[in-house]
Amino acid sequence: MANQIKIGTLISGGGTNLQAIIDACKPGGIDARILFTGSDVPGVKGLDRAEKANIETFVVDYSQIIKSCKQGINDGDLPRDFDFEEIQGKQRLVDAQKAEFFLKTRAIAEKQLLDRILSYGDMDLLVLAGFMRVFTPYFIDRINTVPGRHRIMNIHPALLPSFPGTDGYKDTFDYGCKVGGCTVHFIDYGEDTGPIIGQKAFEIKDNDTLDDVKKNGLKKEWELFPACIQKFADSV
Ligand code: GRF
Repeated sequence: MANQIKIGTLISGGGTNLQAIIDACKPGGIDARILFTGSDVPGVKGLDRAEKANIETFVVDYSQIIKSCKQGINDGDLPRDFDFEEIQGKQRLVDAQKAEFFLKTRAIAEKQLLDRILSYGDMDLLVLAGFMRVFTPYFIDRINTVPGRHRIMNIHPALLPSFPGTDGYKDTFDYGCKVGGCTVHFIDYGEDTGPIIGQKAFEIKDNDTLDDVKKNGLKKEWELFPACIQKFADSV
């Protein structure tokens, strides 16, 4: 048995993956304990799931932050330790034209996230359980503080490196693939490009609908995610 690791969780929606992790963290399950659940969207079902399990929750409302940034961003709104040139040089998410507004708005939101996350004390791993925002190097570097050691884990609804982006099951289905799958990987500066930790595949039959693909994929995600968290716990 590995030492129990402390994990933080971030969600954006229904939180069925979060539920699978909550269930897996019960006695006799994986060697992990959930410190908090944060969401970028208020009122989502995943927050109720966390509260039912007596897990502390918080919301950093990205949409509101982005909306208010559209009125204009002053230098004073930015995190004090935000260095635009440095972050711009590292990021691999958007082209130069869009970079300024994108990186500045995200850094403002990410600073609020970091303040909440760090208030829970030592955390071994940050788990993105259906968190639908990408992170800039500003955030990633402040979680991955030991060079070469990844600490942000994500689940993606496709067999990476195929079908990165937000709609992996739909892209898999629309392409006519006969096999679908999900991937757990670490986050790096690109979109869905970080090192792969685990994958699970399933067959797509000729009569399957997109809903079938999503349903079958989610079932695999609920098995894969806790297994990958345990793999991480075994490695520390
Ligand atoms: C999952 O399909 C996950 O792969 C993707 O978002 C979905 C989240 O579902 N990133 P849930 O909120 O865990 O039910």
